[in-house]
Formats: sequence, structure tokens, C-alpha cells
Amino acid sequence: MFPVLGFLLRSHKTVLKNRDELFSFIRKTFLHHRRKFDKNDPRSFIDAFLVRQQEEKDASADYFSDENLVALVSNLFAAGTETTVSTLRWGILLMMRYPEVQKKVCDEITKVVGLAQPRIAHRTQMPYTDAVIHEVQRFANILPTSLPHATTTNVTFKNYYIPKGTEVITLLTSVLQDPTQWEKPHTFNPEHFLNSKGKFVKREAFMPFSVGNRKCVGESLARMELFLFFTSLMQKFTFQPPHGVSHLDLDLTPDIGFMTRPMPHKICALLRV
Ligand SMILES: *[C@@H]1O[C@H](CO)[C@@H](O)[C@H](O)[C@H]1NC(C)=O
Repeated sequence: MFPVLGFLLRSHKTVLKNRDELFSFIRKTFLHHRRKFDKNDPRSFIDAFLVRQQEEKDASADYFSDENLVALVSNLFAAGTETTVSTLRWGILLMMRYPEVQKKVCDEITKVVGLAQPRIAHRTQMPYTDAVIHEVQRFANILPTSLPHATTTNVTFKNYYIPKGTEVITLLTSVLQDPTQWEKPHTFNPEHFLNSKGKFVKREAFMPFSVGNRKCVGESLARMELFLFFTSLMQKFTFQPPHGVSHLDLDLTPDIGFMTRPMPHKICALLRV
């Protein structure tokens, strides 16, 4: 966001090296796919892209270039993996920190899912678990500055004139922890998403994926992943702090970075079934 401050980043070189390594991995995988690729039997996202690349060979706009494929696959890895993983890590940490919440989640899973494999269709019958996942996302606030956007037209916002093409960084924190919107903005509180009858309630200020036409394109995928992974993990394991550590002493301080993750910590996973 502030390139002039780049020299302060000690890990700058490592970041670039890792990026090049990822790109070269993607190129290798992609070339491998092209060699084995059968237009009539696409097996993957990359194959589907290659089909379009052949179809659009003569088109003037070069959307389906190799360069774009590398960027696209890298975006899927970066935007679609790390975010979900970080949210799940917060989820497990918060379940260890609040065992009474974890117990209610497990009870609901036992009641609704039993030993079956959790499916998306279960979600509407699981208001408590749904509320917990929403609250994990709100509390974790994994992308506090969202992603940079730009104005597509001249805008006047709260008496500020913002010309077309200005880069804008929105602070999702200001909404996810807005004291006018949340009863306990700084506390993990699944009741934010439950009414007095225990029914799930949507909240207008819940926007971890940002809002508008340019919000996260992976939102629906991410929401399914979070539900399925979280529910499956809670179905199979009870999560506890390691021996000798009280749940009250678990540290919920975020490890500050572009993405907010929990501090490194140990997890004790006990098999439930
Ligand atoms: C935006 O504002 C500038 C002047 O600040 C003006 O020259 C330009 O025509 C405006 N653009 C649009 C799309 O209204």
C-alpha cells in the first residue's frame, strides 16, 4: 500500500523468492497439463482455461493468455487458501478459548448431523453453528484493510472529493467492530447472530467479504468451505489447550500482518468418535 516504505520490510527478499517459487510451480503444473490435455475430457480448472484459450485464439482481447493463467491460479491459491485456513485457525482457537461454545456446537452437530458427513443442506438446521462461524469471521477480521479498490467515477463522500481513479483502502475493521452495530464489538459473542429464540439472524454490518459489485468473488465458495470444514472438524474432535494451559490463558492477540492470523499456538485434538 505504501511502496516507499518497502525498504523497511526485512522479509522483502523472502517474499519475492517465495512468489517466484510459486509462479514456477504453477508454470510447471500448467505445462504438464497442456501436454496431457484432452479437449474432450477437461479434468481441472486449468484444463477448462486451456479449452477457452484454444477457442479464443483469434480473439483480439488476450484474456486467456498464459500470463493470466499463472496469475489466476496464483490468486486461487493466495486468496482462496490462506483466508479460509486463517479463519479456521481462529475458529479452533476460539473453540478452545470458549469450551462452552464448543460444547453447544458439538451438541448441535450430534443432533442434526450425527455421524453422517456434514453437508451444506444441514446449515439451515444449525443456527448455532452458523452463528458461531459468522462470529468467528467477524471477530477474526482476517483482512482488516480488505483489498485496494479504485473509484470508477468522481465521488463526494462525507464532504471529501475523491476524483475518479483514486485508490481507496476501506477499513473493514471499522464496520466489523462498529460499536453502534454490535452489542459487544470486541468480544467473541455468537449471540450477535442469534435472536432470543435461538434463530439465526443476518446482520447488516457483517461484511468480512466486503460489499458491492467488487466484493470477494469467492464468497459463496468460502462460506461453504468454512461450514463443511469447521463442522467436520468439530464432529470428529474436541479441541483443548495443551496439558497445563488454562483456556483462560489462551492468547487472542492477532499476529499483525496484511492478513490477521492467530499467534503461533499448540492445539490438543481429542478424537470424539
Ligand atoms: C471528474 O472531475 C473532473 C474535475 O475534477 C472533471 O474534469 C471530469 O470531467 C469529471 N469526470 C466525470 C466522469 O464526471
